[in-house]
Amino acid sequence: MTTLTQIAPFLDGLFAQSAASDAAFRAQVNQQYSHDEIDALIRGGDYIGLYTRLKDNFLAVSRETANLLYLLARSTKARHVVEFGTSFGVSTIHLAAAVKDNGGGRVVGSEFEPGKVAQARANLAGAGLAELVDVRAGDALETLARDLPSPVDLLLLDGAKPLYAQILALVPLRSGAVVVADNADNAPDYLAIVRGPGWVSVPFADDVELSMKL
Ligand SMILES: C[S@@+](CC[C@H](N)C(=O)[O-])C[C@H]1O[C@@H](n2cnc3c(N)ncnc32)[C@H](O)[C@@H]1O
Repeated sequence: MTTLTQIAPFLDGLFAQSAASDAAFRAQVNQQYSHDEIDALIRGGDYIGLYTRLKDNFLAVSRETANLLYLLARSTKARHVVEFGTSFGVSTIHLAAAVKDNGGGRVVGSEFEPGKVAQARANLAGAGLAELVDVRAGDALETLARDLPSPVDLLLLDGAKPLYAQILALVPLRSGAVVVADNADNAPDYLAIVRGPGWVSVPFADDVELSMKL
């Protein structure tokens, strides 16, 4: 039995909370803004303002993307994982479960909303995975610029889209490392890098870019 199977009821509860927290918000946003306006907000420079307004929203990866993270971390035998954008820890739990099932290692998360940091840590403890994870509080441009486990086997990009390319440059990825970038359509500068030399990259599922460093 995998760790993911063991904690399935706990994860069901988190996904239910996530759906409840985000459904009303998504309906309101879709009523108020056009798709182009939403994209402009996500791509815009004021990422602190944007995510401060979203401090109570999970904004979690889908169940499919969460399972993809577990699958990729297991199949790459990942021991060192870095995550940009932890929120309440849904993706982090899937990554930590994979690292545990790979025999142990370290997951470094990052989140600048203090309330989310506290809840993510509580959720990781609830899943029995807290000792594998270091959720770093503060702007990831600073917190991921130091003391990362090296080399990194898997990177999840799920924070502010305009920062994807800068965060990528901070992380010491090994050759063969996998990068999963959620909502990557809103990070065109990042896509230009991973679709260029030194990478193999494919758009995958619903707005995920799946890339491997050569
Ligand atoms: C889409 S949510 C992450 C969802 C999470 N990966 C999950 O699946 O549960 C993005 C999160 O990144 C955080 N964030 C955005 N930019 C950040 C930055 N520069 N540093 C740290 N956290 C950031 C936001 O506060 C928000 O909680």
